[in-house]
Amino acid sequence: MANAQPALDAPPSPPSGELQATGTLDIKDSRTSKNYSVQIIQGGVEGDTATRAMDLRQIKTAPDEFGLMTYDPAFMNTASCKSAITFIDGDRGILRYRGYPIEQLAEKATFLEVAWLLRHGELPTQSEYDQWVRNITFHTYVHENIKTFLQGFRYDAHPMSMLCSTVAALSSFYPEAKNIHDPEQRDISIVRLLAKLPTLAAFCYRHIKGLPFIYPDNDLSYTENFLSMVARMSEPKYEANPVFVKALEVLFILHADHEQNCSTNAVRAVGSSQVDPFSAVAAGVAALYGPLHGGANEQVLRMISEIGSPKNVDAFVESVKGGKGSRLMGFGHRVYKSYDPRAKIVKALADDVFKQVGMDKDLEIALKLEEAALSDDYFVSRKLYPNVDFYTGLIYRSMAFPTDFFTVLFAVARTAGWLAQWEEMLNDKEQKIARPRQIYVGYGERPYESQLKTRFPSAKKDVLRK
Ligand code: CMC
Repeated sequence: MANAQPALDAPPSPPSGELQATGTLDIKDSRTSKNYSVQIIQGGVEGDTATRAMDLRQIKTAPDEFGLMTYDPAFMNTASCKSAITFIDGDRGILRYRGYPIEQLAEKATFLEVAWLLRHGELPTQSEYDQWVRNITFHTYVHENIKTFLQGFRYDAHPMSMLCSTVAALSSFYPEAKNIHDPEQRDISIVRLLAKLPTLAAFCYRHIKGLPFIYPDNDLSYTENFLSMVARMSEPKYEANPVFVKALEVLFILHADHEQNCSTNAVRAVGSSQVDPFSAVAAGVAALYGPLHGGANEQVLRMISEIGSPKNVDAFVESVKGGKGSRLMGFGHRVYKSYDPRAKIVKALADDVFKQVGMDKDLEIALKLEEAALSDDYFVSRKLYPNVDFYTGLIYRSMAFPTDFFTVLFAVARTAGWLAQWEEMLNDKEQKIARPRQIYVGYGERPYESQLKTRFPSAKKDVLRK
């Protein structure tokens, strides 16, 4: 029937996941005066528009020429994949997982429910959820040799270095995980990674604190068990503070996925070589460690402690603007050009936690920094707003997590997104090994003329003694 509208309460039909041709782009090459027409493609309801970079390859000045490429350092304007997992509208401050607004998920869902949603595209039924939670709980233990492995680290090792290496080491315990095209192997690897990440994270914490490792307690929920492995001492059963449990659950949900960020791109790129998921996720942990990505939550607290007092905030902001100091950590985002919706939720969450444990001593500095930046033309004109990392550190610290452990908490949560994105990449027929092009700007061919007098200098005599 013409003009028929779906009933308002009808469930939306699942998106096709295909790109639609919506128009053409006409290009004239001034070098040859030739005209070309390339397709404009678009994703689903709210999908972005793009052209296929490969369509430009036909544009050349001679038949044996390589053809035109696009040049896009840091992927500022390049879609590397199509994805149905996470939607971000950076101008309007919108974040949704599989269509569900982050605000609703943070308020009502559990982290494991969100992990299922990210992977499968739909919310789990009760029986799917029960089985999922049971499977993950069953796999929380790690091989005893992992303990020996962790004990090899120095007492002051950064927990992200430890986590990255230990996740990579898990690959050697599960060689069958290489069979990434076998859905059963993929399934068990995903369950193992989600189950074991909190255990590894907690073991890293206990190692730097010089405390004995605490084994998982499979009577507890995912978050309660994690807090138990972190904090339990001699008590037979650990009872976590319910405000901390709720706060951590919400923070895990907020951090679970964020479309093609640096670490997810790393997981997809490394995974595209068809390596096992433990190795691909280790690449994600490594990328997350960096101060411009997940490491920013740690840097925010270091920056606040360097500022030292609210009265020093204005001078600090001036030094950032003058390019003398570092950046304002926890501010700015490649995609959000308005307030990060996660930061809004985190700020409200901080109030709940501080009500329980008392006001964080540095909250005043953070609030003053935010106020100063949001009223300063430097930050306003560049659309720099607080991101998710600005307030999370204050919450983690009030829960007694050490500063260099903050990014580990981020990694535990992001594992859900990395795995969903990894599997989506494997199931996408258009994906191949990730291998960007370059524009070569070095020397042309030149003959080899050695400047060496000795080919093999004695390391023993000269180099090692220096
Ligand atoms: N403080 C001061 N100036 C900034 C900041 C900042 N935090 N962020 C960007 N700018 C300036 C930058 O100097 C540039 O100015 P100009 O145009 O005069 O050269 C302009 O804003 C654009 O910056 P950009 O570096 O081109 O932006 P980007 O999209 O490449 O970088 C970012 C995004 C998140 C790396 C950056 O904003 C940043 O370094 N922020 C601080 C680190 C941080 O908080 N990272 C966490 C990001 S959110 C969670 C996550 O991804 O893990």
